[in-house]
Amino acid sequence: MTIMLVNKKILVTLGLMSVVVVGAMTSMTPKKADEPGWKNLKVLPKNITKDQLHGVMEEWEHSLGVHCNFCHVRDEAAKQMDWASDAKPEKKMARDMFKMMNKINEKYFDAKKDSLGLTLKSGVNCYSCHRGTAHPEVTLPAGRGPGGPPPGAPGVGPGGPPPGGQPGPPPAGTPAPDKKE
Ligand code: HEC
Ligand code: HEC
Repeated sequence: MTIMLVNKKILVTLGLMSVVVVGAMTSMTPKKADEPGWKNLKVLPKNITKDQLHGVMEEWEHSLGVHCNFCHVRDEAAKQMDWASDAKPEKKMARDMFKMMNKINEKYFDAKKDSLGLTLKSGVNCYSCHRGTAHPEVTLPAGRGPGGPPPGAPGVGPGGPPPGGQPGPPPAGTPAPDKKE
């Protein structure tokens, strides 16, 4: 009988200990010393600091002329933003854009990486194309047909494109070098 009791006590104690240990482990897992505990980063470095992440997010906001909720959903039940959620297609698109941008910079502008592994800008950033709008329209420079101007053709005069015309992307007819990946 006494033995049973002791055994029970030991069992209970062991049980409690494992709860404590497992509890401590789970509360430790999301946060290592240099990991701020982001839940769903797939393209940004997992150990990006709060300030750095915020800097990136604000740059994206300003480049596209949108607010956080363009890419992030609000959890109405919890009455707060659900930053980790991937519910909005715009968020996924932003990831693809980020990958595209890094590829362009690394491949064509020899961009190096910083200590976090983020591609340092040297060529294009979101703003290069977006210029403060979410949907950069594919337009031709005013007055140009498909194919673009021949090299050396008189450009758009010193006054720039006619009023109302947006500074367009480079002539669409420029053939892209047919590089295979
Ligand atoms: C153009 C789209 C876009 C905008 C605008 C944007 N974000 Fe993000 N945000 C993302 C993407 C994409 C990720 C995930 C990055 C990754 O996968 O590495 C992200 C991740 C985050 C995360 C990390 C969530 C986690 O734990 O995984 C936070 C926090 C966040 N954004 C806050 C903001 C705030 C605050 C703003 C407004 C100032 C903002 N975002 C604006 C696209 C956007
Ligand atoms: C090389 C030019 C280029 C660069 C660089 C670029 N974008 Fe884009 N982006 C576009 C074009 C063009 C579209 C419009 C595509 C369409 O409408 O189908 C677009 C569309 C998007 C959309 C979808 C908008 C919507 O309403 O669905 C998001 C989000 C976006 N870009 C985010 C970004 C972010 C964030 C960056 C920087 C990390 C970036 N883009 C860099 C050209 C670019």
